[in-house]
Amino acid sequence: MTSTWPVYHEITGPIVMIGFGSIGKGTLPLIERHFKFDKKRLTVIDPFDGDRKLVDDRGYRFVHQAVTKDNYRELLTTFLTEGEGTGFCVNLSVDTSSLDIMKLCRELGVPYIDTVVEPWTGFYFDTSKGPEARSNYALRETVLEEKRRSPGGTTAVSCCGANPGMVSWFVKKALVDVAGGLGLSFEKPTSRDGWAKLMARVGVKGIHIAERDTQRAKAPKPMGVFVNTWSVEGFVSEGNQPAELGWGTAETWMPANAKTHETGCKAAIYLMQPGANTRVRSWCPTPGPQYGFLVTHNEAISIADFFTVGDKDKPEFRPTCHYAYHPANDAVLSLHEMFGNGGKQQKTSHILDENEIVDGIDELGVLLYGHGKNAYWFGSQLSIEETRLLAPYQNATGLQVSSAVLAGMVWALDNPNAGIVEADEMDYERCLEVQSPYLGPVKGYYTDWTPLTDRQSLFPEELDTANPWSFKNILVR
Ligand SMILES: NC(=O)c1ccc[n+]([C@@H]2O[C@H](COP(=O)([O-])OP(=O)(O)OC[C@H]3O[C@@H](n4cnc5c(N)ncnc54)[C@H](O)[C@@H]3O)[C@@H](O)[C@H]2O)c1
Repeated sequence: MTSTWPVYHEITGPIVMIGFGSIGKGTLPLIERHFKFDKKRLTVIDPFDGDRKLVDDRGYRFVHQAVTKDNYRELLTTFLTEGEGTGFCVNLSVDTSSLDIMKLCRELGVPYIDTVVEPWTGFYFDTSKGPEARSNYALRETVLEEKRRSPGGTTAVSCCGANPGMVSWFVKKALVDVAGGLGLSFEKPTSRDGWAKLMARVGVKGIHIAERDTQRAKAPKPMGVFVNTWSVEGFVSEGNQPAELGWGTAETWMPANAKTHETGCKAAIYLMQPGANTRVRSWCPTPGPQYGFLVTHNEAISIADFFTVGDKDKPEFRPTCHYAYHPANDAVLSLHEMFGNGGKQQKTSHILDENEIVDGIDELGVLLYGHGKNAYWFGSQLSIEETRLLAPYQNATGLQVSSAVLAGMVWALDNPNAGIVEADEMDYERCLEVQSPYLGPVKGYYTDWTPLTDRQSLFPEELDTANPWSFKNILVR
């Protein structure tokens, strides 16, 4: 185990961590390792106190309470303004409004970070809201609106976990790799416009956030239990949102149940079906070709938006971008069971911790496709064994997320007045420099595979053979 970890910054004020679930537990030891701070002013707030011993034993304060729409101002202000200096608010909870908490932090001049644009409780299953209102597009637009309303000021990092988060840094690294591989002469871009133009020049048609989680539990999944390697609540919520994807200019076909948006960045579409029940064809280094679920994610929209060239209404170039997630096998079975039961979530949920997992890796990367070298996957292949050596209280999935939170916090302290930012807007090299020691092998792989490879079918299919990477060939219909 490495013993000399770098201390990146001093956090001079109080630290408040909201939510102490799988990601909170994993992030706490990284904060202890990489920042200097006042131990008496670290507060963890969570309505579930099953793991509070980890907090109590270290001499921190545990507040056994839910952060709600009614109490968040008073509750958080009390702890965020305790004593001198500038603190930090790390939001790793479910059911709390990222936007409201972020706004409060900026009012108080306290840097803020989260890993998802989370709404207050009830949003995801509110049947009075239509699919568009329940989309990540709509949630992200609320943050973009606030960014426009209140530019600059105290840094608040939106959506900085593994994905959304780290994968946006991987996209830039992968793009530079492919541009180099194609022998293009180019300068590393320094602006959003420059990045988007480089992607257009490289000829990327689209990007999959391509993930395969092979972590396996010692005990088989019992019937009636939703098992996952990270938040079950988070996964079930996002899995029941409509499937959503950044919609690229190379697409020639749209599914019949696809809808576009009339307002906002216009970089994405959504399908009138739940993302975790929508399959796509994709590719990861270990399995090769595989099915993944097109679960909606903030980065599918933010990456497509960031790399748009030209007017948002009539772009000259935009990549398609979506998640293609093969979760741990137990989670695949859990989804099958849940959707088989009308989408009703199992009564019991369980997150596999590092001691229950026998073996496996979380292979999480970006697949840039459609360019002159066909496709390139770049990402992290972190194993459970390596995770156990690197940091406590988490599995491989958790460490990919918590180390991205760490990188985001370091960047925020490097840039305290950057306003509201998404991972796409951050310095990817600095962030990966901080995060990479926690990611296991971080590698790039070219592949010849396309969604038409070996597509021998005993039944006729309507395919777009002229455009192998068309979404028509990718979506399992
Ligand atoms: N961007 C990424 O890569 C990424 C990856 C994993 C998780 N996440 C997100 O991070 C968050 C945490 O994930 P996790 O795996 O730790 O989830 P988890 O379900 O293990 O933990 C969530 C915690 O929030 C607590 N909580 C619930 N209501 C609360 C409230 N009102 N106030 C304060 N705390 C409350 C719960 O009791 C629980 O301990 C989720 O929103 C999840 O979607 C993002």
